[in-house]
Amino acid sequence: MIYPHEFSPDLVSIVQEFNCGPDEWSKDVNSWIRGGPDDGESALSCIANQNRWCRVWIYSTGESPTPETLVGYSSLGLGRWPFGTTKIPIGTIPFLGVDLRFQKQYHEGKESFAMGMYRDLLSSADALLDPQIKILGLYVDPRNDDGIKFWRKCGFENLEGKTYLEHGVAYQGMFSQFR
Ligand SMILES: CC(C)(COP(=O)(O)OP(=O)(O)OC[C@H]1O[C@@H](n2cnc3c(N)ncnc32)[C@H](O)[C@@H]1OP(=O)(O)O)[C@@H](O)C(=O)NCCC(=O)NCCS
Repeated sequence: MIYPHEFSPDLVSIVQEFNCGPDEWSKDVNSWIRGGPDDGESALSCIANQNRWCRVWIYSTGESPTPETLVGYSSLGLGRWPFGTTKIPIGTIPFLGVDLRFQKQYHEGKESFAMGMYRDLLSSADALLDPQIKILGLYVDPRNDDGIKFWRKCGFENLEGKTYLEHGVAYQGMFSQFR
């Protein structure tokens, strides 16, 4: 069983040791959840930003989250992506990560912790996003083999021509119709 908790400033102390890996793309996922509201790119600054809708959840193996029971986190935002000749509103997944202690592990039957978190994110997307939004999109580092494999299992595919260039890395846009 994993328990979702909506992320807020009072939970920031619990995520200070969150660690989903040493790779460049994992470091970004680590620092985004650990950062404070004034740290520029962080979960708390995203939540606090009045001009940008964003929700974040942390997941724990116990009913109340602690650093020891922290499995990982997921997030949801909004965007407009080009499909064909028009841009359409989509839900976005800015960041998602599973702590190293819980990666490649099943928590219920044959479902991994990562997949359990994603299923919960899907039900939040279904409940919270405008009914006209039917697509989720995200960017993935092209070197992130585990991430790409995971998103494919979740039903995502590359959106051709949709990349985002930062620090010399062309992040690949992936999308999935979730309802
Ligand atoms: C991406 C990420 C969430 C995927 O997590 P994960 O735990 O590897 O998730 P998966 O569900 O894909 O599990 C991986 C494999 O472990 C296997 N596995 C799960 N439990 C297992 C167990 N007890 N024993 C052996 N294998 C197991 C699964 O079968 C799966 O392999 P397969 O589906 O190819 O057969 C994780 O790697 C992560 O947090 N990475 C860093 C952050 C990141 O890249 N985020 C995404 C940015 S876009």
